[in-house]
Amino acid sequence: MERLHITDVCLRDGLQNQAVQVSTEAKLKLAQRLVEAGVASVEATSFVSPKAVPQMADAAQVVVGLQQRLPLLRTSVLVPNLKGLERASQAGCQEVAVVLSATEEMNRRNINMGLAQAREESAAVLREARARGIRTRAYVAVAFDCPFEGATPLDRVKALAAEMHAAGADEVVIADTIGSAFPGEVRLRMIELSGVVPLDRLAIHLHDTRGMGVANAWAALDAGVRRFDASVGGIGGCPFAPGAAGNVATEDLVLLAENSGFDTGIVPVALLDAVEYAQSLLGRPLGDHSARWLMRQRAEASRR
Ligand code: COA
Ligand code: ZN
Repeated sequence: MERLHITDVCLRDGLQNQAVQVSTEAKLKLAQRLVEAGVASVEATSFVSPKAVPQMADAAQVVVGLQQRLPLLRTSVLVPNLKGLERASQAGCQEVAVVLSATEEMNRRNINMGLAQAREESAAVLREARARGIRTRAYVAVAFDCPFEGATPLDRVKALAAEMHAAGADEVVIADTIGSAFPGEVRLRMIELSGVVPLDRLAIHLHDTRGMGVANAWAALDAGVRRFDASVGGIGGCPFAPGAAGNVATEDLVLLAENSGFDTGIVPVALLDAVEYAQSLLGRPLGDHSARWLMRQRAEASRR
């Protein structure tokens, strides 16, 4: 079976936009449940301004807690600028992700920089991280549509992906930040992008705003992509990108992959502990068809 690499981003993308403040201890317990289900890689937090995203104010404590309790878990953190890299580096992070949006306005709203400055800053962070021996991911956000500028030209996405690859990104993550993509376009764009970034360094980050998350994941798989972001329970969304719903749910993606000839290392039904724990933290039901089906499977198994 072919390996599929999943990074669960619920601790960062999932929590950054939640009204409920989640404690550091609860974040660590959620991570623990993910690991128990077989998750090997997470995006744990972001070293951004605590004024911009109060939920991520405990970034350093989360990183240190994960290193102590889950030392084998591959942990990436989002950094928007060199100051973020410095903070992440001081906390002992081994992997960072920069976030470059493909449009002028999205960069301004998200990180208060224009596109040109965001490109320079992202490349500078990648170079500095490499010099320090830190692994790197580079998001190309709003890679399909921008909530402010409409459809994002494919040529621009290709140019930015190539630029981040050239600047040393170990992985380039193409993000459908607002969940507006459809499978035909996903397949087409990922094939085109695999011409500028080698497939083993290309990842996709999908949101499920229109119920296309799993279909889009399949389209990316069909294009040869084997690295995916997902969020348990489907929580997620950028506070600065209006209209974005949650990420494609980890349990949806794992169920799809494990039943289509791929090995994720994750046991679908075991993710339910994480889904239920996240539900208890956020005080609302999470997960969609696949979570409900897995819950029925688990209930039947326990009756047998
Ligand atoms: N972490 C913590 N604080 C930071 C920081 C970082 N990475 N970068 C800058 N700051 C602080 C500065 O020290 C300064 O603090 P002060 O007011 O106490 O002096 C303040 O933020 C303003 O600094 P400046 O460089 O002018 O930043 P800015 O106001 O232009 O904001 C960002 C830029 C990137 C820090 C801010 O827009 C941000 O954090 N955005 C969040 C992006 C995000 O998380 N999006 C969702 C995920 S994609
Ligand atoms: Zn996202």
